[in-house]
Amino acid sequence: MKALFIISLLIIPLLLIVFRPEHKPNTLITLERVERAGYACETYEIFTKDGYGLSIFRIGNSKANRSGRSSSTTAPQSKPVVLLMHGITSSSDVWVIEGLANPLAYDLVDQGYDVWLGNSRGNAYGLRHLNMSSEDRQFWRFTFHEIGTIDLPDIIDFILKQTHETSLHYVGYSQGTSIGFVLLSTQPQYNMKFKTINMLAPVVYINHIRTVLKHLAGFVGTYTPLYPFLSDRPMFGSKILRYLLGIEACRSVHANPTFCAFIVHRLFGGYSGYMDKSILPDLFNSQPTTCSLHQALHFLQLYHSKQFLQYDLGPEGNQRRYNQSTPPLYNLSNINPRYPIHLFYSDYDEYSSKKDAEALAEILGNRSATHFIDLEHFAHVDFVWGSNIKEVINKPILEIINAAEKNSAA
Ligand SMILES: *[C@@H]1O[C@H](CO)[C@@H](O)[C@H](O)[C@H]1NC(C)=O
Ligand SMILES: *[C@@H]1O[C@H](CO)[C@@H](O)[C@H](O)[C@H]1NC(C)=O
Ligand SMILES: *[C@@H]1O[C@H](CO)[C@@H](O)[C@H](O)[C@H]1NC(C)=O
Ligand SMILES: *[C@@H]1O[C@H](CO)[C@@H](O)[C@H](O)[C@H]1NC(C)=O
Ligand SMILES: *[C@@H]1O[C@H](CO)[C@@H](O)[C@H](O)[C@H]1NC(C)=O
Repeated sequence: MKALFIISLLIIPLLLIVFRPEHKPNTLITLERVERAGYACETYEIFTKDGYGLSIFRIGNSKANRSGRSSSTTAPQSKPVVLLMHGITSSSDVWVIEGLANPLAYDLVDQGYDVWLGNSRGNAYGLRHLNMSSEDRQFWRFTFHEIGTIDLPDIIDFILKQTHETSLHYVGYSQGTSIGFVLLSTQPQYNMKFKTINMLAPVVYINHIRTVLKHLAGFVGTYTPLYPFLSDRPMFGSKILRYLLGIEACRSVHANPTFCAFIVHRLFGGYSGYMDKSILPDLFNSQPTTCSLHQALHFLQLYHSKQFLQYDLGPEGNQRRYNQSTPPLYNLSNINPRYPIHLFYSDYDEYSSKKDAEALAEILGNRSATHFIDLEHFAHVDFVWGSNIKEVINKPILEIINAAEKNSAA
């Protein structure tokens, strides 16, 4: 497997020369994707308490809808709120890639929900800071811990204030699930700010990940003095690297779909049996976006330690930050949600395995409910990009959310 990965790294530049794609970079942002799909969209700029500027998007706060019809009965402010959070090296675009058959976001809007798409520091919508430039190394000194303990609660509080609500429904995908668990375990007062919690491809315990990237854990899965040199940088920030990995080539509509699908499978967690190749050009226009290398290192640490631990900064760094030589565990006992946390997982996903999701469910006990997607080749990307999500993802989530709304109205 390791050899295959290295060979593929060597072959990709060759393929690039062979295919000679035309480059017509598409610079659409989430707002434009949503509007082109026929929905009204608003952008909100927020600053986190530690100074990062994030753009987040809101769909459905308007009477227009996909069919162009309007409902004059619902006042925009009174709709229940749903927040969708993307995964690592991704952004709000993940939910609204052009060509997707049935995006969850639009199904939610059509059923009358006020849908918000969040973004985290370091991605294409989170490259600003009050006092720093994204060129500064200090800017990139964060992991998904800061995203979960600062970005996520700040986004939630901003939305609740805007909408005059006290709680919201949450849908997290991949790292969007990790940050939810980080927040609930470190700031338990947030448990009550969530109505339903829907976790797609949960990434908490990752002892059974199968991606070839796990082999990197042997080198950097624990703190080494090389960390400060390796990290404090964006991942996928280098255009040369993006060319070498084939990402730039695949932004063209003339790129070879089989080749680009192969890149998706390598980068995003396994061959997908359900992804429609027609979404590939727009997928590559927005993914992968930048993230901090610390985020990737933190995940490799979880794999290496087999625990849901805070970031390992080395004995001295840990002493300074945590007042102990090893990083503390995220305490899942602090999680006390109003409704059981819904875990959606498959057996084929290379990042979120059935064994790990079920181990998490066992620890959470009645605080979780499992939704095993019993389909062969339902890969990590299929939770958001599968052509069958209407049936396997959107429908159960809508049932869960609708039931909770009915329950609270009763
Ligand atoms: C930004 O810099 C100002 C002045 O140096 C300081 O007062 C403020 O706390 C800084 N804000 C953040 C979020 O770092
Ligand atoms: C969208 O249109 C349908 C009718 O086709 C209507 O029932 C629904 O309320 C509309 N949604 C919004 C958000 O206006
Ligand atoms: C750090 O840990 C030591 C020993 O466990 C304890 O005595 C001390 O109060 C802690 N300091 C802080 C600031 O928490
Ligand atoms: C975890 O939290 C629970 C309850 O919130 C507490 O009783 C327990 O001591 C905590 N465990 C650790 C290791 O901090
Ligand atoms: C789990 O069970 C306990 C004890 O029966 C109960 O207090 C709690 O509300 C339950 N939690 C959920 C999320 O159903």
